[in-house]
Amino acid sequence: MDVIVKASAEAVADFVHEQLLEHIKLSPASVLGLPTGGTPEPIYARLVESYRSGLVSWKDITTFNLDEYIGLGADHPGSYATYMRERLFDHVDGPAEHHHIPNGLAGDPAGEAAEYEGKIAAAGGIDLMLLGLGQNGHIGFNEPGSSFQSRTRAVDLTPSTIAANQRFFGAGELPPRKAISMGIGTILEARRIIVVATGEVKAVAVRRMLGEQKTPDLPASALQDGRNVMVVLDALAASEYRGAPFVP
Ligand code: GLP
Repeated sequence: MDVIVKASAEAVADFVHEQLLEHIKLSPASVLGLPTGGTPEPIYARLVESYRSGLVSWKDITTFNLDEYIGLGADHPGSYATYMRERLFDHVDGPAEHHHIPNGLAGDPAGEAAEYEGKIAAAGGIDLMLLGLGQNGHIGFNEPGSSFQSRTRAVDLTPSTIAANQRFFGAGELPPRKAISMGIGTILEARRIIVVATGEVKAVAVRRMLGEQKTPDLPASALQDGRNVMVVLDALAASEYRGAPFVP
């Protein structure tokens, strides 16, 4: 794992944006795995700017989002489909069919998850996976206890994750308690992974991800086994982490 620490969240977004830009320029038909949440918002804003400046085209890029809430349709303001359209997809080129997100309204979530997994495989797997980090160490919606071999599936969210994501919902409206998430095994198969964490609220999860023996209690620690993993932190997220990654 390469660990890169930048002074600020802005500097993190600049750096990760540059990494993505380079990747897309070199591999304009690649398959990207994409996260939601607050962390990637400044990265998506920069990607939209670089598209508008003519630096990059998304027309041949295929995307797979990590997760979606069960029970929310693509037009619900709190859905990840809406999040992605508003932050990225509506502002770059490339047909909507290239952008995959699990269907939160599927009558059979297990079937939807299996189909999603099949679509990733049919696209040749994920070339570059961008990941955020939950405060409890989750990646995608793989909550503590998730198997490192897990595939895309329906999952239950923990109360702390529901509380952390409340800010994306209107007053009085609770986030759903279930989601469809890419599995940890699915994520680990990506050919390159960039994990991004900013803010003091992520400092403990970062320390445990990098410095402790891997355990399903801290899903992100599975990334210690990932191929080609880069971790990009701001100084606050790195503030609890001292020294080299854990070596078994
Ligand atoms: C959600 C998403 C994750 C994301 C996490 C952190 O739970 N499912 O993919 O990484 O939130 O979000 P934030 O960046 O807002 O802290």
